[in-house]
Amino acid sequence: MAELAPSILAADFAHLGAQLAACELAGADRIHIDVMDNHFVPNLTMGPEVAAACRRSTKLTLEAHLMVENPDSIIPAFLAAGVELVTVHFEACRQLHRTITVIRQGGGQAGVGINPATPVHFLSQLIEEVDLALVMSVDPGFGGQAFQPAALGKLAELREMIDRRGLTCDLEVDGGVDADNARACVDAGASILVAGTSVFRAPGGIAAGVGCILSQMGQPAPKSTATPTARPG
Ligand code: DX5
Ligand code: ZN
Repeated sequence: MAELAPSILAADFAHLGAQLAACELAGADRIHIDVMDNHFVPNLTMGPEVAAACRRSTKLTLEAHLMVENPDSIIPAFLAAGVELVTVHFEACRQLHRTITVIRQGGGQAGVGINPATPVHFLSQLIEEVDLALVMSVDPGFGGQAFQPAALGKLAELREMIDRRGLTCDLEVDGGVDADNARACVDAGASILVAGTSVFRAPGGIAAGVGCILSQMGQPAPKSTATPTARPG
């Protein structure tokens, strides 16, 4: 069953804790934290302190997506903040195998991401060493961009590589994912879908945004865990 990872880049940071609780209650499976350094991508976002705040606000798995140059030095801080999985970019690491080792030695699960222009076969050497491969379906740096359908072919190619080798690593798609393309992403082989705008900016609110995408992914709506208020009489 594929999983949904709301990206907090699109969240209302004035109410982040409540919004994470809403995602959890609506059935989201993990939380995606987009870290940008204004070098690898032309945007600057959040650091380990925000990850620690997320850790205090939800029991869902936290994954940090590091869109930063030379991530080695900040990986320990995100692991210490309580992030379980750290994804770095193939394009940002000069010694990628060593970086994966830094994550693993820090007790984290390791992910590697590729941008739209990076071919899938660039991962063929490393795919057996990671817990997650991330296919960008937008040019990284901003939420709210249009989904690039070419990502579906890359997902299918990576899914074939993973299955042919009998690997268990997750396959994640990130950028412009919504209820209209969620099914196609799952059918192409994605096991985790990242969604920011279509969750946190959903017209009907977070619960509606999560529920709409989960239903397209084939996930049943969660039984409400909220205890119903007893009604008098
Ligand atoms: C883009 C980020 C994505 C993005 C997802 O660089 O990696 O995680 O925030 O947000 P939406 O779903 O709005 O594209
Ligand atoms: Zn991301």
